[in-house]
Amino acid sequence: MNAAGGAPSLVTIAAGDGAKVRVHLDGGHVTSWIPAGVDDERLFVSAKSGFGPGIAIRGGIPVCFPQFGGEGPLPQHGFARVSTWTLVETRETDREATATFRLIDNDATRALWPHAFAAELSVRVGGDSLEVALAVHNTGDGSFAFTGALHTYFRVEDAYRCRIEGLEGVRYRDALHGGRVTEGERAPITVAGEIDRVYLDVPGPVTLHDPARTRGARTVRVEQSGFRDVVVWNPGPAGVARKPDMHDGDDARMLCIEAAAVATPIVVAPGERWIGAQTITL
Ligand code: BG6
Repeated sequence: MNAAGGAPSLVTIAAGDGAKVRVHLDGGHVTSWIPAGVDDERLFVSAKSGFGPGIAIRGGIPVCFPQFGGEGPLPQHGFARVSTWTLVETRETDREATATFRLIDNDATRALWPHAFAAELSVRVGGDSLEVALAVHNTGDGSFAFTGALHTYFRVEDAYRCRIEGLEGVRYRDALHGGRVTEGERAPITVAGEIDRVYLDVPGPVTLHDPARTRGARTVRVEQSGFRDVVVWNPGPAGVARKPDMHDGDDARMLCIEAAAVATPIVVAPGERWIGAQTITL
């Protein structure tokens, strides 16, 4: 583990096999994943992204909590991605490295969302896989409900040549058509421009195929637990043009496949703990 600066704002953990991951405490935000045995960044982070307290990083794995997108009264995607998390512990062995981060309710979170909670983000890297788990503990006296996501930005060579499998026949809410629920298509998903869909009650893993001509074809398998929905998002060229923290052409360089709880909020009773995870394997 190394930390840049005096008080760590950035944590890098590496397994003995060379797999490594970098996490910013601002946001509890994974911004880099390099699997073992390759010198190949697998997450997209915009070269125009800001970093630091209160800034939503454009790329990596934003933690959306306790609200997905604009699904409620809170700021877009909730406050976790713009809150500063604390490092709880790191462990590095020959085969894997893990780090745990925590965010506890405070005056700022309670002003937006009046609940007592302890959220823990656990990151595990080793070999060809990365697992990110979000645990939410209700430390208060009343139940609460939340929506959220692990909003993973995959780095791809050309999003418009990628194929996503595993969502065939799964119904989705289409944000580009006012949230209309649409029957899932039979064919694997391809991206032709802006896409913003919440696939509902996804039954199994999703696979992202990137034919990547210059770097060699690659396939990642994305599994999730705890989260029922999968969000597929790409802003398309027009969306990128509206985002001050993206460069023209970034739409082709990224594709988000998010482990999400959107349609059915997660309810956590007092004293209980919910865990959701996304595991990405090459
Ligand atoms: C996705 C949403 O998860 O995140 C999109 O489905 C949204 O609607 C996108 O545009 C990016 O959100 P933001 O707040 O990071 O620009």
